[in-house]
Amino acid sequence: MAEPNLQEIHDFLFDIALKAGDMITSANPGTVDTKKNSSDLVTETDKAVEDMVSSSLKSKFPDYSFLGEETSTSGRLTPAPTFIVDPIDGTTNFVHAHPYISISLAFAHQLRPLVGIVYNPFTQHLYHAIHGKGAYLTAPSVPTSHPPRPGSGTENTEAVVSAYTMTKLPMKMPAPPLTGLKQALVAMEWGNERSGNNWETKTETFASLAGDESTGGAMVHSLRSLGSAALNCCAVARGDLDAYWEGGCWAWDVAAGWVIVEEAGGRVVGGNDGELEPAVDSRRYLVVRASEGRKGQEEMIREFWGAVKG
Ligand code: IPD
Repeated sequence: MAEPNLQEIHDFLFDIALKAGDMITSANPGTVDTKKNSSDLVTETDKAVEDMVSSSLKSKFPDYSFLGEETSTSGRLTPAPTFIVDPIDGTTNFVHAHPYISISLAFAHQLRPLVGIVYNPFTQHLYHAIHGKGAYLTAPSVPTSHPPRPGSGTENTEAVVSAYTMTKLPMKMPAPPLTGLKQALVAMEWGNERSGNNWETKTETFASLAGDESTGGAMVHSLRSLGSAALNCCAVARGDLDAYWEGGCWAWDVAAGWVIVEEAGGRVVGGNDGELEPAVDSRRYLVVRASEGRKGQEEMIREFWGAVKG
């Protein structure tokens, strides 16, 4: 099999993300079903988007494997060239009409994520990266408070058209040094594993990060639970968050964001002490933003691992 052409894959995924975005913004969630428990949601739109993405990919790249949230039974990645797809990352937000959601599309080979596209169709922020070629944000050049919706009658006015020129910005920017966990803004998610080992580790780690010294906690500046793993990775890549930790999510939640974080100078390591090179499907991750000099980043990783309970 010929070596994958990463640029071609990137460009194709970029277009699919925009198409999926149109499907999502013009849909109601439709029927909402639950999967393994009542906090694990799937909508008709998740399934329709995954269907569209998988059939487009299968006709363009018939030799490559496909790992999608709504169709995979094992969640496990193999070394084969593979597309890793979460049609709506943030399904719970989507069900509640909360606009922090994304389409997450990645390509991995030999178990390494090499292309990542994460698109929030409500803000029209599209993050994209190819391994070794940098991370970019393509977004409307003029922020507007009310994006024009199809059929709103305002799409063709000059002001709106110029507001919607999409601009591509490199994401590698000078990052202030990380000064330690205590000064950090950290995302952690509740996810849908609400019992067992991941639940205990999550709740105890929440407490150990947020509590003050009298509780033995690190007392970080604050914690955020925003509801989309892929967008959390992009927020770390941009420097909007200092770190993101989660136990219990899957390769399709993080694979695309992974490339974007690394290409923006951030790090993805395992969620447990000492795991410097986690597998993409290891299900527990720590993501840390770029820092002026590597030292702050490494210290932050070690400090964070010390706070993970379990
Ligand atoms: C979920 C989101 C959420 C994370 C969960 C994921 P989904 O993805 O990324 O932030 O906490 O672990 O399962 O189910 O909305 O695609």
